[in-house]
Amino acid sequence: MENEEPEFWEINFIEKQEMWGFEPSNAAILAKDFFVKNSVKNILIPGIGYGRNAQIFRENGISVTGIEISKTAIELAEKHYGSEMKIYHGSVTDMPFDNSLYDGIFCYGLIHLLDSKEREKLISDCYNQLADKGYMIFTAITKEASTYGKGRLISKDRYEMFGGVKMYFYDRETIASEFNKAGLFEIKEINENYPFYLIKCRKTRSI
Ligand SMILES: C[S@@+](CC[C@H](N)C(=O)[O-])C[C@H]1O[C@@H](n2cnc3c(N)ncnc32)[C@H](O)[C@@H]1O
Repeated sequence: MENEEPEFWEINFIEKQEMWGFEPSNAAILAKDFFVKNSVKNILIPGIGYGRNAQIFRENGISVTGIEISKTAIELAEKHYGSEMKIYHGSVTDMPFDNSLYDGIFCYGLIHLLDSKEREKLISDCYNQLADKGYMIFTAITKEASTYGKGRLISKDRYEMFGGVKMYFYDRETIASEFNKAGLFEIKEINENYPFYLIKCRKTRSI
């Protein structure tokens, strides 16, 4: 893939291990409430990391399957949360990893790491793995981030940052243009360690 991310993430997890702690993100808490309210029973988490966001879903009766590029992150997830949770080792750019349809998808802090073709493929691969009337929730970094415009410009709104990671910064128009065809129905601002958008889509038809 175009991003040299495998090494970047693997090195980061080897060096920093559980770098975001064990508490779920604000977005994961909101997504859990939303999924529970809408009777979502199983979800896919592309870019699951070491699983800190997975646990809150599992504690609420939702079964979780993950995809993760870093072997070390998968080992950390097994160490902390057990091996019953299936995590495919590989890049989301190679989705799908199974033929399952999921009631929900939660994709946190990943899409903005990809280039435009990869983002488009991720959105349609996720949509295709949603059951009819399933929901997907993404979070993505916004142009309000203090890091926006810093680093080396690669293409419009995409920069190579510290350590070599590449980031695409979204605004409401670019969210709409990428997610509209995937059943976009809500964009909310949410604060994590960065200003993020919380993006909700619902499957109503095939794309
Ligand atoms: C910002 S982190 C978020 C991790 C996790 N959702 C959390 O908050 O605990 C992005 C995650 O996506 C993984 N990742 C990055 N690029 C990926 C790719 N192309 N395919 C699969 N996973 C990827 C990274 O290893 C990392 O675990």
